[in-house]
Amino acid sequence: MSDTSDPQMSFEARLGAVARDVAALLDALLNDSPLPGEIARPTRLVAAMRHGALNGGKRLRPFLTVEAARLLGVSGPGVLRAACAVELVHCYSLVHDDLPAMDDDDLRRGQPTVHRAYDEATAILAGDSLLTLAFDVMADEATHPDATVRAALVLGLARASGLGGMAGGQMYDLAAEASLNPHTVEEIARLQAMKTGALLRFAVEAGAIVAGANSEQTAQLVAYGKALGAAFQVADDILDAESDEASLGKAAGKDAGRNKATLVKALGLEAAKSSRDALARQAEEALAGFGEAARILVEAARFTAARRN
Ligand code: IPE
Ligand code: IPE
Ligand code: MG
Ligand code: MG
Ligand code: MG
Repeated sequence: MSDTSDPQMSFEARLGAVARDVAALLDALLNDSPLPGEIARPTRLVAAMRHGALNGGKRLRPFLTVEAARLLGVSGPGVLRAACAVELVHCYSLVHDDLPAMDDDDLRRGQPTVHRAYDEATAILAGDSLLTLAFDVMADEATHPDATVRAALVLGLARASGLGGMAGGQMYDLAAEASLNPHTVEEIARLQAMKTGALLRFAVEAGAIVAGANSEQTAQLVAYGKALGAAFQVADDILDAESDEASLGKAAGKDAGRNKATLVKALGLEAAKSSRDALARQAEEALAGFGEAARILVEAARFTAARRN
């Protein structure tokens, strides 16, 4: 694992170090050897999962887990495992989000999407298996010695990912495409809090859980994660409207044509930018109680709003 103990280390250096650690652990997890309780791992499925999980990406979610735990004085292989579990759910969500039945995209992280590189059925199964592996990683004793802590991590990840979280938000997102009525700002905020915000919020909360945060620390970190998660999707929608495929590594300019419910559509670009920046400031302010110790997470909120991809 990278040494990130130097308190002066820059945000970019930390993000890069965590991204390398995440890639190394995901590489180790996604191999052909069955674990106890498994029977066999099909080579083609492992390859498709690796395509979906080891193809770059900012690794912002695992970074948030690692940095939230570090803020509370905890680091090490168990924290990295919890962080990777969150990233595995994110990677699954991208594989399925890109499917023809959903957003129908051909490019992701600068490479063909999994259903393009393999086929649709393999992409569905790769997504299923990434999601399931996330819970395997979280529930394993190597993540935390205390079973109560592991159960809290598993429960939190399930609630953030499923019916009332990401998957539910994706349902609202797809339903909006076919809707003739414009969505209110509140409806858009709820949809986005579910499809994107829930997992980003939980990424931060996972760091708090694994580090044994008290209720006050948890509340501050969760408020931060919620605001950052909201800012993140507004930024994504602005990038879709303003950026290009080469910068994003994924198609741009698609949301308007697909009638996606976004703040850009509801309010216009300038108001969406104000909203993004206000949410990022709200995230920063939620950490005021931690003082200078929270510098990296404050920078992560600024990065979320200012990012170019
Ligand atoms: C893209 O997420 C999907 C959304 C939730 C908007 P990211 O922008 O974090 O994607 P990667 O992981 O860096 O590729
Ligand atoms: C994706 O939102 C949200 C999830 C994957 C859960 P988008 O559909 O806007 O993400 P991109 O733009 O394809 O990355
Ligand atoms: Mg989508
Ligand atoms: Mg999409
Ligand atoms: Mg998008």
